[in-house]
Formats: sequence, C-alpha cells, structure tokens
Amino acid sequence: MAPDPNAIGAFVFDAYGTLFDVASAARGCTEALGAQTAARLTSLWRDKQLQYSWLRAVQGRHADFWQVTGEALDFALDALELAQNGLRERLMQLYLRLDPYREVPAVLERLRAAGHTTAILSNGSPAMLAAALDHAGLRAQFDHVLSVEEVGVFKPHPRVYRLACDRLGLQAGAILFVSSNGWDAWAASAFGMRALWCNRSGSAAERLPGTPEAQIRTLGELPMPAAGGAAEPGR
Ligand code: LAC
Repeated sequence: MAPDPNAIGAFVFDAYGTLFDVASAARGCTEALGAQTAARLTSLWRDKQLQYSWLRAVQGRHADFWQVTGEALDFALDALELAQNGLRERLMQLYLRLDPYREVPAVLERLRAAGHTTAILSNGSPAMLAAALDHAGLRAQFDHVLSVEEVGVFKPHPRVYRLACDRLGLQAGAILFVSSNGWDAWAASAFGMRALWCNRSGSAAERLPGTPEAQIRTLGELPMPAAGGAAEPGR
C-alpha cells in the first residue's frame, strides 16, 4: 500500500540514478562512441563506481565521490579499450551536468507547493551535487543537500542515514527515503527509515536486510498530499 504522505516529516532522495540519469553522460558522447558502446560504458562505469565506493567503505579508505567516479571511469575506458583523446575529461564534465529524469522537476514542484521538507542524501561530493542541481535548475527545490562527505564514508554505512536524521531533526521513521538503487532503499529501511524503491529498470528485488514499503516505477508515482494542499506533513 502506498504510504500516507501526511505522516512523512521529510522526503529524502538519493541523487544518482534517482534524480539524475547517469546514462546521460555517455549518451552525450554518442557521436564519438556509438550508442551500443555508450550504453556499455555507462553500465561498467556505474558498476565500478559503486563497487569502489563499497570497497573503500569496507576498507575504511574513503576518497570523495569525484575521485571514485574518475577512477571507475579510468577502469571502464581501459576495459573497453576506449583511449580517445579528451574523452575522459569530456565524460567527467558531463557527469557534472547530468540530465534529471523527465518527471523530477514537476514532482519536486508539487512536494514544495504542498509544504513538504525535501532533501538529498547522496554519495556525491558537495561540489558534484551543487553542479548537477545548478545545471538542472533544481537547487531551490531542496531544503537540505546532504553529502556523505560530512561523515567520511559511503552508503550503505548506517552513519550516512544517521546524518539525515541528525540534520533534519527527525526520527528515522519520520523520513521517507526514495532511491532507485535497490541496495540503498533496502539499507535505509534496515536503518529504520520508511523507504520507497523507484525501480526504474524493472530489476528483481534485493535480498538484503530491510523492507522498502513500496515499489514505484518513476517518481511520478510518489505519494502526494490531497489536491488543494490541505494535508499537512507531520513535522
Ligand atoms: C548516490 C548514489 C548511490 O547518489 O547514487 O548516493
């Protein structure tokens, strides 16, 4: 059953893959790569980026997401034998200007108009998040933009989800966390947040601790207050 928006103290969003389409970076180089290679690059780059973030978290060897993203790209370009002049720099610059998913601006607009608190909780470094939000014109739609840099470890370390509670002044159970990354939604739920999994790609469910309370296909299916904005969020 969809959660009751009236009981939600804050809507907290993951950034990459949830608000911003990470495939749009390689897509921006389609003329150089071809559509098929661009898709393979996107997939390998993203997989490595996440793996490196998890491995660094387990090893206690944090580096910011910009560095991790660059190192993952180096791996992917090497593995796919894509040693073109200037390609790395171009892709990294495009990562700072990712497209938001189509429904994102309107969904945020509606949440804000209804008076809800909105936040981002992301692995992204503050500079990366600021660049993506500025490019998408979405900066003003968030009350808080929280980066794991404040706690020095990547998701799904519980310290990251704790950061959102601390900064928002809310119990975990008053936060609705929304992520397209299944493992992230599961981890937020295991931490005690209400979690929605925005399963954009029709993936199978994770087998991890936690239970997201609902699955949606796009953010357009987020629970919204009643028309007229009469419903007050539970702050
Ligand atoms: C983030 C990654 C997990 O934005 O997508 O935190």
